[in-house]
Amino acid sequence: MEDERNLNTSSSSLPSLRKQLVRPTFGGSMELDIPVVDLNVSDEEFLVHEVTKASEEWGIFQVVNHGIPTELMRQLQVVGKQFYDLPEAEKEAVAKDEGIEGYKKNYLEGGKSWDEHLLHKLSPPSIINYKYWPMNPPQYREVNEEYTRHVKKLTEKILGLLSEGLGLPRVALTQSLGGEKAEYLIRVNYYPPSPKAIGGSAAHTDLGAITLLIPNEVPGLQVFKNEQWFDVKYIDSAMVVFIGDQLMRITNGRFKNVLHRAKSDKERLRISWPVFVSPRHDLLVGPLPELTGDENPPKFETLVYQDYLHKTMQNWALDKLYNKESTLLKTH
Ligand code: SIN
Ligand code: FE2
Repeated sequence: MEDERNLNTSSSSLPSLRKQLVRPTFGGSMELDIPVVDLNVSDEEFLVHEVTKASEEWGIFQVVNHGIPTELMRQLQVVGKQFYDLPEAEKEAVAKDEGIEGYKKNYLEGGKSWDEHLLHKLSPPSIINYKYWPMNPPQYREVNEEYTRHVKKLTEKILGLLSEGLGLPRVALTQSLGGEKAEYLIRVNYYPPSPKAIGGSAAHTDLGAITLLIPNEVPGLQVFKNEQWFDVKYIDSAMVVFIGDQLMRITNGRFKNVLHRAKSDKERLRISWPVFVSPRHDLLVGPLPELTGDENPPKFETLVYQDYLHKTMQNWALDKLYNKESTLLKTH
């Protein structure tokens, strides 16, 4: 199976993406910037409003004062970097084999890719395969386990606020992903400096429900809105929250699955730590009945999540075969 990170583009975004590719525009403006939400605000109603509006209009926002200790975020970054600094043979000890998990390097001359990545599951415990967790540095496992506890708590808090914004009980969105069985995966993206800036990840939306990402201080992440690419500004200790395909489908299109891409830097090493939160693989996922009705019929098919993944990847492979737009998207 291909990398679970989604590389499909929704059909609605393709025409504008195509236009954008021939007429690139970069940068944002003061009036139109990716929303930043301070979660340490006692006015719950205000928070609900802010994250819901950001999910409807942008499909991406940054959160600050989110409760994950800065020191833990630093440790996660340190152990990730230490892994990449190991000799190649040690990294290969957790190499990807038949599945999506493990370490892989993609150094393809000719502008195709220039990066390394490590991907493994974090939760629930029943899906973890420690074979893909580095043994070195020795603190890798403990730090990742501690980070998982915090990132789950934060994800559930954000899903709770978003549920309320939709007029649903606080637990609704977490339950729609399978509750405790929702699947968490971490990917550590390593983009070495590349003089021609060929590395990075091509425009895509995330396959899962929601993604929480820690970047390092080297910019490179961009999001597409209003026919324009916007830089995601680096904010120390902030987390970047992306709405993925499943929250778009569950909310019957009310939330936007944000189209984004990342570029490597010409001089500096860029690393990012996204955690992908997806529905339990055998769960039926589609628009919630509470969010549809005669006036608002379901816009998306309800499918077992695993089938959705297969179908999407098949379409993607076909597009690739026939040289359609998604050949722009990168496989791993
Ligand atoms: C991705 O979404 O594929 C990567 C994002 C990033 O590296 O910032
Ligand atoms: Fe992504």
